[in-house]
Amino acid sequence: MKDEGGRYDFESFFADYYDLTPAYAMRGDLGFYTGCSKAAQGRTLELGCGTGRIIIPIARAGCGVVGLDYSKSMLSRCEKKLQDEPQDVQERVTTVRGDMTDFDLKERFHLITAPFRSFSHLVTVEEQLSCLDCVHKHLLPNGRFVLELFQMNPGRIKDSKYLNEAEDTPEFTLPDGRRLSRTNRTTAFHRAEQFNDVELIYHVTHPDGHAERLVQAFPFRYYCRFEVEHLLARSGLEILDLFGDFDKSPLTDDSPEMIFVAESRR
Ligand SMILES: C[S@@+](CC[C@H](N)C(=O)[O-])C[C@H]1O[C@@H](n2cnc3c(N)ncnc32)[C@H](O)[C@@H]1O
Repeated sequence: MKDEGGRYDFESFFADYYDLTPAYAMRGDLGFYTGCSKAAQGRTLELGCGTGRIIIPIARAGCGVVGLDYSKSMLSRCEKKLQDEPQDVQERVTTVRGDMTDFDLKERFHLITAPFRSFSHLVTVEEQLSCLDCVHKHLLPNGRFVLELFQMNPGRIKDSKYLNEAEDTPEFTLPDGRRLSRTNRTTAFHRAEQFNDVELIYHVTHPDGHAERLVQAFPFRYYCRFEVEHLLARSGLEILDLFGDFDKSPLTDDSPEMIFVAESRR
């Protein structure tokens, strides 16, 4: 869905089902990000904090954190979850509605992160450089930036089999008795501009038998390793580490992720 400013925002159902989706709930990145925040010894800013899946555990670990996100529905889900947290955890979290390509928080951070592919929502180089410029302005001297992207599967940028809907989440039962499964598909390849149009399709069956098909559509940018290295260098960020997974193993041909750890040199 495009909002009044022409940006893609997530449909409210996406926020409702986000934390219940096993691929998100079981993602093995919490130890990595909590460890980064502890090591930073100062406040963390997360770009694209969504429902607070990562910022809430960071606050539980005793670290102060600001979560910035553009989506009203994702942020309101985060606020709702925070209400169930102890007072001290709530006090360590600040959420801000804002655009990661254009923000001014009047604070500089020891650590800024862009986890779980939030940077892949930035399709153009102008948006990417604008975001990295904001990152640079918000980092303390020697502050660190962690940028997590997926390592591209070449098949997914041209193989017509991905135009067909494929199941990524087999049906399971939610606590309230609804049954949920999910499929996904690519609806268009844009190789010259390095993005795909994708759909995440939620299939919900209510206890009374009523069935819904809910579609979240958005463009998704893919990156090559050296392109990201050039982007970071253009933005005054020096790469310290490049990992291929959350266990900090090096990037190899089969690594699922590309996790860049960079330092501000300004
Ligand atoms: C896949 S979710 C990740 C959420 C969270 N970091 C996590 O790991 O669960 C990506 C998030 O990026 C946000 N996002 C996308 N484009 C954005 C932008 N230009 N500015 C701020 N947030 C954005 C989306 O609203 C969404 O909440």
